[in-house]
Amino acid sequence: MASVLVIGSGLGGLLAAVRAADAGHHVVLVTKSVLPESNTRYAQGGIAAALFRDDSVDAHVLDTLRAGAGLCDPEAVRVLCTEGPARVRDLIRFGVDFDRDESGVARGLEAAHSRSRVVHAGGDATGAAVEAALVATVQRRTTIEVREHTMLVDLLVSESTAHESTAHADPAPGTRVVHGARVLGPDGVQHSLNADAVILATGGAGALYTHTTNPTVATGDGVAAAYRAGASVADLEFYQFHPTALAVPGTPLVSEAVRGEGAVLRGELGERFMLAEHPDAELAPRDVVARAIARQMERQHGAPVSLDATALGRDLLETRFPTITAACTAAGLDWAVAPIPVAPAAHYWMGGVETDVWGRTSLPGLFAVGEVARTGAHGANRLASNSLLEAAVFADRAVRALGRSAALEPVATVAPVGTPTHQLDAPVAATQDDPSALAQGHDRAALQNLMWEFAGVHRSGAGLAHAADTLVGWIAPAATSTSVADLEDRNLLDLARLLVSAALAREESRGAHYRSDFPLTRPELAQSRSQTRYPALVPAKEAIAC
Ligand code: SIN
Repeated sequence: MASVLVIGSGLGGLLAAVRAADAGHHVVLVTKSVLPESNTRYAQGGIAAALFRDDSVDAHVLDTLRAGAGLCDPEAVRVLCTEGPARVRDLIRFGVDFDRDESGVARGLEAAHSRSRVVHAGGDATGAAVEAALVATVQRRTTIEVREHTMLVDLLVSESTAHESTAHADPAPGTRVVHGARVLGPDGVQHSLNADAVILATGGAGALYTHTTNPTVATGDGVAAAYRAGASVADLEFYQFHPTALAVPGTPLVSEAVRGEGAVLRGELGERFMLAEHPDAELAPRDVVARAIARQMERQHGAPVSLDATALGRDLLETRFPTITAACTAAGLDWAVAPIPVAPAAHYWMGGVETDVWGRTSLPGLFAVGEVARTGAHGANRLASNSLLEAAVFADRAVRALGRSAALEPVATVAPVGTPTHQLDAPVAATQDDPSALAQGHDRAALQNLMWEFAGVHRSGAGLAHAADTLVGWIAPAATSTSVADLEDRNLLDLARLLVSAALAREESRGAHYRSDFPLTRPELAQSRSQTRYPALVPAKEAIAC
């Protein structure tokens, strides 16, 4: 049995901790805030899975591949859609009370799905219901040691020597092996936590952008630490912008499911501008709707567009969407009587730490599950309500892969991002060991504004180059800082550099990545790209039998 350090407490982290504890491993679960705080908690729409008689795994696979715009890993998609229904049934066993109607479990339709297959709980409070059930499950497992207010700073890495005996079998000499993490504890002191395996489940990085549907904890800590440790990260240019966040401070999410129920988008003259944009109008793929809204907002001098849900009626709005109704009420809006202002906001990162279909990264001892990972299941644009599913499927698989194989094979190493005209490492490296080096020349809001303006919904080569040049001039807070905000800013600066570099290198438009100077998709570029700090150390892919 191994010692397993799980970092993050959304669906992926909680499920991995439960599974690992049930398999007899010794589990420590650390989380930056309190146990229930995570991106998962704010998910509204639900979980997509082929659970119903008129649906099939093949149909779900096809919809996922189509949304992914040519960049999905077909094996990851097949695993996701095949194992998804069993993982949803697991969640029911863990106590998630999915909504029911006269036909049984209720289901909703969301954009780019060919049929209704999205199960939900508490109307639009699916994530909160999943989080609550899994937190309760973790708390019942007395063998799981939970440490709240404990932030990942960096991964502990060593280079293996010949025939070293570790939980990861025999890594080749010189291979970088992860054996734990340095964390900042609630006492304000950095500690080392050693483990045979680390499962990253730290979620996304909405805090890279001015407007986001994510909670403030979403600062990409796992992706940044994994990259610094030498893990391969991939597809970082693909950040999904949700079309409809309520255009009020905090930009709360207004679920895709609202449009699935029949709400429509209107411009300032009341016109349904999506009719001219796509045959599926408001139910076009998420990136199409987000860009169309952004263009419409430009025509309206930046004013948000309107989401008109008035035809749905007060009863349906209040029972099916209680969370959104409450957000509207808090903002002084009554969406049963008048359209509400909405605008795109950063929502989900398709890119992340590169993994295979067992959650294994390119570093022995390091696994990644949920939004922190790039499994290849989402490609260039995630299908709505596939994110909780992905976290559940791959958390389960990562635990099954613990200690059952050589565990050294990374995913396919995809082409590295081209010539690094915008060097990422230099300013960070310069401050790593210098505790006196404070952030200079920027604050978080400046970084978020830069990213929103130049690496957001609409991008251009010139804008990205400007962003890259600006980011290179900024200095990261020291790794030795004992301030959570400093350490988050360090991560955000690393990630902004990586994302901008990847976006500059992708000279085409595809899925969530749109460049006005390369507005077309280029079939010859239909491949994922990875970024690795130590490219020579990334080993070749091998099969695993678990
Ligand atoms: C939504 O409810 O629109 C969000 C669902 C998702 O991001 O998959």
